Amino acid sequence: MQFITLVCRPGFESEAGQEVTDRAAYLGVYGYFQPLAPGLVGFMVAEPHAVDTLMQRLPLAELVFVRDWLVALGRVDLPKADRVGALCEAFLQHQALLPSCERVEVRLREDNNDADLGNFARKWVSPLARGLRDCGLLQVAEVPAGGRLEVLLLSFEQVLIGVSYASNRAVAPGGILRLKASADAPSRSALKLEEAWKVFIPEHAWFDILGGGKKAVDLGAAPGGWTWQLVRQGMLVTAVDNGPMQPALMASGHVEHVKADGYRWRPHRAVDWMVCDIVDKPRRTAALVASWFQDRLCRYAVVNLKLPMKKRYQEWLACQAIIREGLQAAGGEYRFVAKQLYHDREEVTCYLERLD
Ligand SMILES: C[S@@+](CC[C@H](N)C(=O)[O-])C[C@H]1O[C@@H](n2cnc3c(N)ncnc32)[C@H](O)[C@@H]1O
Repeated sequence: MQFITLVCRPGFESEAGQEVTDRAAYLGVYGYFQPLAPGLVGFMVAEPHAVDTLMQRLPLAELVFVRDWLVALGRVDLPKADRVGALCEAFLQHQALLPSCERVEVRLREDNNDADLGNFARKWVSPLARGLRDCGLLQVAEVPAGGRLEVLLLSFEQVLIGVSYASNRAVAPGGILRLKASADAPSRSALKLEEAWKVFIPEHAWFDILGGGKKAVDLGAAPGGWTWQLVRQGMLVTAVDNGPMQPALMASGHVEHVKADGYRWRPHRAVDWMVCDIVDKPRRTAALVASWFQDRLCRYAVVNLKLPMKKRYQEWLACQAIIREGLQAAGGEYRFVAKQLYHDREEVTCYLERLD
C-alpha cells in the first residue's frame, strides 16, 4: 500500500480526502482516505505507479481543500540517541525510488502547540541535512531536479517521511503563507485578499492584472480591509456595504462608499475588478459572481464562499457547478481556480479571470 499525505486546514480532513478520492477516480486511480491527525490525511492506493500517476496528472493547484501534499514513504520511530542516523537509514531503504533531492524540509503539524518541538525542528534541519548529504541522499545538482526530502515531525518519538516535487507542491510548505498584518489595515481580512493574489496570480502578471490604476468594486466591503488592498494597488474602488467604512481609508479619496445591497447593486459601466466577502449562502454568492461575468461587468474577481457547517464538500461542488455553468453560458474563455487558503476559516476563496 502506498500513500500520499494531504495537508489541509485542521477540521477539513474529510473534505480534503473526498476531493482527492474523487479527482483520483476520475483519472482511473482508486483509493481511500484516512485522517492521520488534525490537518493531515492519508490517501491510500494499492496499484503500483498510482502515486506517480497522481503526481504527474493531478496538479495541486486544481485542488481546493488540499493546501499541500507529499508522497509518503512511511512512519519512522525516532530513538532517543542518533535520530539523524535513524532517518538516514529509513530514507536509504527507499533510495532506488527517490528523485534527485537538493534539500530536506522539516515540518510540523499546523496545530502543533509544543514550543519545544518547534525549536527542535528548527535546530534539527542543519545536522539532518548534513547527515543526509553524507550518505548521498542530498546532492547539489547543476540543474536542480526539484525533489525535496520531507520530514513531518509528529512528536519527539515519531516522524512521517516522504518526498515532494517542485513541479507539484505548495510554494510555501504546508501552503502556509505567513503575511504581515499592517497596522493601517482596517481589518485582518485584508490578509485574505493579499494571500489570494499571491496564490492565484503569478508574480510576472501582477502589474497587468492589478496595476495601472484599475477600477474595482468591493461587495460587502466594511470596514474596508479588501478595499484597502485594492487602493494600495492604485485602484479606484466602489465599496458597497450598509456598514461603516474606516474613516482613514475614506480620506484617501480613492473610495466611493455606496450603501446598498451587494446582491442587487450593479455598476453603470463595467469595471476591471469585483471582489466579494459577503457572509451569506454560498450558492447565492456563486450565482452573483456568475452573473457579473455573464453581464461582462468585470474581468477579474476574488470571492469568498462561506461554507455551511455540514456537507461542506457537497456545497462546494454545487457552488462550483453554478459558477462553471454561468461561465459556459457567458461564452469565452476563463480561468477559474479556488482554494481554502491559510487565512481562510470555514470558507474557500475563488479567483476568476476572463481571458479573451
Ligand atoms: C466579512 S465582512 C467583510 C470584511 C471586509 N472584506 C474587510 O476586509 O474588511 C462582511 C460584510 O458584508 C456586509 N454584508 C452582508 N450582507 C450584505 C449585502 N447583502 N450587501 C452588502 N454587504 C453585505 C456586512 O455588512 C459586512 O460588513
